[in-house]
Amino acid sequence: MKKTAVAPANIAFIKYWGKKDEKLRLPENSSISMNLDRCFTTTTVEFDKKYSQDSFDIIGEKVTDQELTRVKKHLNRIRKKANISLYTRVVSKNSFPKSSGMAASASGFAALTLAASKAAGLNFLEKELTILARLGSGSACRSIPDGFVEWKEGNTSTESYAYSLYPRNYWNLQDILVVVSGKAKSVGSTQGQKRAKQSIFYKERVIEVQKLIPLIKQALAARNFPIFGEIVEKDCLYMHSVMMTSDPALFYWLPKTIEIIRNVYRWREEGIPVYFTIDAGPNVHLICESKDEGKVMKEVKKMTDLQDIIINKPAKGAHLISKHLF
Ligand code: PMV
Repeated sequence: MKKTAVAPANIAFIKYWGKKDEKLRLPENSSISMNLDRCFTTTTVEFDKKYSQDSFDIIGEKVTDQELTRVKKHLNRIRKKANISLYTRVVSKNSFPKSSGMAASASGFAALTLAASKAAGLNFLEKELTILARLGSGSACRSIPDGFVEWKEGNTSTESYAYSLYPRNYWNLQDILVVVSGKAKSVGSTQGQKRAKQSIFYKERVIEVQKLIPLIKQALAARNFPIFGEIVEKDCLYMHSVMMTSDPALFYWLPKTIEIIRNVYRWREEGIPVYFTIDAGPNVHLICESKDEGKVMKEVKKMTDLQDIIINKPAKGAHLISKHLF
C-alpha cells in the first residue's frame, strides 16, 4: 500500500536537550513547542513485494549513509509492529531548502512515522504515533499533534508521548526564522546531547526547566505574551549555557547570532514586543504576536548579510494527503 503524509517542523519554547534513556529516547525534561506552517516535510511510503531492499530519497538533496540507516531502523520498528517483511520505497521532500539551516529530523520522522504506519496497514491512535515518532527522533513526536504541543518526559516508553495543548488557531504567534548560516551543523543534536552531560550545569538546567514548565503553561493559558517571551528566552539561554560548557564545548552561535540577540533587546526597549529563541545552530527564531509582525520585519530588513527569512504561523500536526510523490 502507498501512503503520503505531511508533517511540520516545530520550534521548542521549552527545549529538550539530554536524554535519561538513550535507546528509548526518553528526555530529561518535558518540552513545549509550536508547529511551523512554512517548514514541513512531505513523505510517500510504499510497501511492496516488487522491492528487494529499502530505498530512501529526498528530492533535491543528497541522503547520507547515516540518514539511510536511521530511516531503515525506523521502518524495521514499523514492520515489526505490522508483522510484515516487505521492503519499501520512501521519497521525501522538504518545503524548506537545506540551506535554510532548519533540521528536517522532526518533520521528517513525523511524516515517515505516519505515512509508513498507514502504508503498513496500522491504525495507531495519535498518542501511539507520537511514541513511535519519538523513537526515530525525539522532537519528531511534537510534530504529530496539532498547534501548541507538550511532550511529557515520562519514565517509560508509553509514558513519554506528545499531545496538543492548544490548536493552531489558539494564539496568533509568529516565528520569524532569521537564517544566518545555512551550513549543516558540525555536531548534530544526537551527538551534542550526549556531550551535554559533561556540563556542570546539566543537572541544574533540568531542575530550573522543570520550574519553567508550569509558568509557561500559565502564560500560554492567559496568552500573556511578555511573561511567555521572558520564559522562552530564559529557557533558550539555559540550553546554550549547557552547550557552551559541554566537553568539548559546543558553541553554535556566530557573530550575527549575537548581533540579532542585542537587536532584540534594543527593539524591546524601543517598545516592540519580540523575543528570541535559538536551536542547535546559529539561526535565530524571533517570536512575536502577528499584530507586531510588521514592526519586527521593518527592523529585520534593516539588517545586512542575512541568508533568508521564513515567517511561520502555528501549524496543524502530521496528516495524510492523497497526492503522492511517486
Ligand atoms: O530531536 P532532536 O535530536 O533533533 O533534538 C532537538 C533539539 C533542539 O532542537 C535543540 C531542542 C528542541 O527541543 O527542539
